[in-house]
Amino acid sequence: MREPRDRQERQNAHERRRDRRSEDVVVLVSDRRERAERLARGIALVLPCRVIEPGAGLPAGRPIAFVVDLATDLAADRNGDRGHAWIAWLATNIRESGLPCLYLARGNAIHDAAAVTLLGTPTVIDPRQSAGIVPTLRRLVAAGKARATRGGMQGAAGGPPEVQVERATTLVIHLFDSAASGQPPSPEEAEEGTQIVLDTVSEVGIRAWLDLVWRHDIQVYQHSLSVAGFAAAFAAELGFSRDDRQRLAKAALLHDVGKALIPHAILNKPGPLTPDEMAVMRTHAALGADLLAKEGDFGPDILDVVRYHHERLDGSGYPEGLKGAQIGDLVRLVAICDVHSALTERRVYRPPLSAAEAVAIMEAQAGQLDSDLLRAYRPIIARAGAAASGPSVLG
Ligand SMILES: [Fe+2]
Ligand SMILES: [Fe+2]
Repeated sequence: MREPRDRQERQNAHERRRDRRSEDVVVLVSDRRERAERLARGIALVLPCRVIEPGAGLPAGRPIAFVVDLATDLAADRNGDRGHAWIAWLATNIRESGLPCLYLARGNAIHDAAAVTLLGTPTVIDPRQSAGIVPTLRRLVAAGKARATRGGMQGAAGGPPEVQVERATTLVIHLFDSAASGQPPSPEEAEEGTQIVLDTVSEVGIRAWLDLVWRHDIQVYQHSLSVAGFAAAFAAELGFSRDDRQRLAKAALLHDVGKALIPHAILNKPGPLTPDEMAVMRTHAALGADLLAKEGDFGPDILDVVRYHHERLDGSGYPEGLKGAQIGDLVRLVAICDVHSALTERRVYRPPLSAAEAVAIMEAQAGQLDSDLLRAYRPIIARAGAAASGPSVLG
């Protein structure tokens, strides 16, 4: 049983992280840990610095410059390789941010030329002149500040909705990959993914978000992004504050993370599950919550959503058969988005349901889902219509 003090500490850590998100930071991208630590200490003397390693998402904070120090060949043609996908994602972020980028040359003319092309127009510096790195960075940041036109730095986020959905998908794949190996997902990646969902849904609307998300057939990742999209639209509909919108969308994005620990044969079974398989599938809620609890930065309300999103008001849900007031508001909100998403995703054994069919089924579950919230949610169902296409996933 968790102690209240432990809960308070988690909440404090959560709030500290929220404060860190608004800080301007230099992002040091490095696959050489010792060197990265030395360099980060040097940079931190003049500017806040966060280090990311290959495969990681952008750190908390608002990037103001990038420093790239990679021994990995940035130009290697490794189709289908996760490392390659990460480098492509990173380079796109750096190019599109328009922020200063300092590339530490490896001394191999071919590799360095390829890296320069990939990164856009970085400032290239020879790392052997290490004394020059920090002053050069400071100069670049000062020049970048002078160039910035829209009330400060342009963050790394932004760009066309298609690019945002690609980034969000990459982040969600990372979240599930970590979970599958028994590691809690990175709070920074969850944060980044949440922000993309909120920004993009508010910019293009829920219908366009769903069209973009379901363009690819990557199953549980798309379900997570779609539920998060519904949650973002619902939070806006309810007039939630910025913080509450973030909490709801993040909880929705993570709600099924425990599915990373369910055997593929069950998770991707093309058809209804047997009772035994269903029992295994149902463990995803507690498995996901236990995993996130290992990482102190996910708030208790997020853990509740992950553990209880299949609980129903009449006590018919799982894992604990909670009833009525035992089920919190955030959980009720995500449950509605989750059920709606599951109904309107295409299954192997049935086409996606129309908005009217989804409304009818959800209203028939009025004893299970919160009826007041369901009424408030109806505009989202109408706006979303039936998702154009989607894979077979279980809510
Ligand atoms: Fe679920
Ligand atoms: Fe779900």
